[in-house]
Amino acid sequence: MHITVIGQTGQLARALISRASDYSVTLQTYGRDDLDLTQSPASIETFIDGLKTDGVIIAAAYTAVDEAESNSDTAFLVNGRAPAAIARACARRDIPLVHVSTDYVFKGEASTPYRPMDKTNPINAYGRSKLAGEQAVTEAHKRVAIIRTSWVFNGTGKNFMTTMLRLGQMHDNLSVVSDQMGRPTYAGHLAESCLKLVKALRDNRQAQGFYHVSGSGEAISWADFARAIFERAADALPHAVSVTDIPSSDYPTPAPRPAYSVLDISNYEAQFGALPDWREGLEQAFKDWS
Ligand SMILES: NC(=O)c1ccc[n+]([C@@H]2O[C@H](COP(=O)([O-])OP(=O)(O)OC[C@H]3O[C@@H](n4cnc5c(N)ncnc54)[C@H](OP(=O)(O)O)[C@@H]3O)[C@@H](O)[C@H]2O)c1
Repeated sequence: MHITVIGQTGQLARALISRASDYSVTLQTYGRDDLDLTQSPASIETFIDGLKTDGVIIAAAYTAVDEAESNSDTAFLVNGRAPAAIARACARRDIPLVHVSTDYVFKGEASTPYRPMDKTNPINAYGRSKLAGEQAVTEAHKRVAIIRTSWVFNGTGKNFMTTMLRLGQMHDNLSVVSDQMGRPTYAGHLAESCLKLVKALRDNRQAQGFYHVSGSGEAISWADFARAIFERAADALPHAVSVTDIPSSDYPTPAPRPAYSVLDISNYEAQFGALPDWREGLEQAFKDWS
């Protein structure tokens, strides 16, 4: 199976590249220089029309959550309008499409994990732009799976894990917010889910729909996640790093975050098997960290 990945340098795209051969697929990735997602829908559709492919995974997105507040036009072009154009072009040739979205489409006031059909109500511009993408993609194409994921991390690149480890080299105590709950997702495990879904869409139309994919295991706060990272990194850092819990109000950001964005992953697990614990993902990520 030959898969097209829209995106090349991001966490998910890189993880897809490293796992493709395990799933007997060949990948062609396209970065911003090949396909800028702010360009016109017509030119994006022409680009997709020109591809010889058995499936498409959209791994690129406008992911700068805080910048999206002041740059929402661009966020909506990349996260809403571009996926819609890709979906229209895929629909014309009935090409399976996997699109990746976010836990931030939810408001965050629940007390039990969000299921795929729960009411969406994003509280920031990034979440609204991703929700627009979900809606446009599902309107344009039937053979589509939307994966909502949360708190994606990896041992390389820029993400919460590598940021904590960078700061931990310089400080022996860090203050981290403890009133936002979620579940981290190792980029490699997310990539595996995308590959399973694109193959399932090829083989079985019933695979279409919404899926929630995150690390399994306990729901935690960002402060808990930081502690788990520093515990695992203890031998590699020049000193022990402690973490102080703080409320979000002590760490104001341009974009508000949902207080609770734990995803119910049971519909994915029922069809595709158990998702690994985020702690297992952390172990994997440390193999890539240096
Ligand atoms: N990261 C998270 O914690 C998280 C949480 C929930 C959901 N998600 C979703 O998971 C998916 C994968 O995220 P990720 O963590 O892999 O993101 P990432 O590491 O931030 O990568 C985003 C990619 O999108 C590309 N991109 C941005 N604007 C573009 C444009 N105008 N044209 C072409 N490419 C553009 C970037 O290219 P450049 O390198 O050229 O900038 C980058 O390669 C996204 O759909 C995201 O919304 C992520």
